[in-house]
Amino acid sequence: MTTAALQQTDVARADTFPIPAGVHAETVVSVRHYTDRLFSFRITRPQSFRFRSGEFVMIGLPNAMKPVFRAYSIASPSWDEELEFFSIKVPDGPLTQHLQKIRPGDTVLMRPKPTGTLVLDALTPGRRLWMIATGTGIAPFASLVRDPETYDKFEQVILTHTCREVAELAYGEELARNLAEDPLIGELVAGRFVHYATATREAYARTGRITTLIENGRLFSDLGLPPFDPAVDRVMICGSMDMIRDVKALVEKAGLKEGSNSMPAEFVVERAFVD
Ligand code: A2P
Repeated sequence: MTTAALQQTDVARADTFPIPAGVHAETVVSVRHYTDRLFSFRITRPQSFRFRSGEFVMIGLPNAMKPVFRAYSIASPSWDEELEFFSIKVPDGPLTQHLQKIRPGDTVLMRPKPTGTLVLDALTPGRRLWMIATGTGIAPFASLVRDPETYDKFEQVILTHTCREVAELAYGEELARNLAEDPLIGELVAGRFVHYATATREAYARTGRITTLIENGRLFSDLGLPPFDPAVDRVMICGSMDMIRDVKALVEKAGLKEGSNSMPAEFVVERAFVD
């Protein structure tokens, strides 16, 4: 079979190619499809692999001599034995057109170095942590809201998630539900974690872009909280480039300054990668 023909084979049969040097080859443990655009999957975690909740890694498939790698936020917390990812499915996406077909037992490649700015270390101390997500931008926050360190550092944690359609909110709804029932940190988060979901293109309990809800004050009145205040509020933003630009402008208008790993400050941003 030619290389081109092999590239067309099912993912399950694709590990005919050598694993590139220095790359982890992990096994798919489970896959969940939420909509025809979104799915999540869990893979085994290499014993030596350490990361900070909120970071991302490069993911690929063993289906070519030079596999395509894409950045994926790790959605599971740093204490989890497995690694979870939440992905979009793009029909002709170089990676996701194949990745969306993975099944338990298949191999997923992972480069060993995690990195990213949506980490607690990039923020100065505060009382309230806002995580503003659209679409698959919820992934790094799914990690952080399940990490006890987040609650050591912040009294209150608010996760906003906005999607076009109601079905796309399911991953976040399930995350919030499981968090409340979690034997490890359910008690820790009780009364301190808030999940605020909105849809923009379908009727739902709450509708509208998060930018609109910040600007018209609805987000704050719904939650009974004051508007962003640099003295107490810290903000993490993850979504499309446009979304980041617009939310960033609003938090900057409120007086918050952007931070990084080397210079922590009051808010941090990262784009939801795979498109
Ligand atoms: P809308 O339906 O009004 O475009 P996408 O899938 O395109 O990344 O969008 C995910 C969610 O983010 C959608 O609800 C979308 O709203 C919203 N969104 C898109 N662009 C922006 C933006 N510039 N500011 C705030 N929200 C946005």
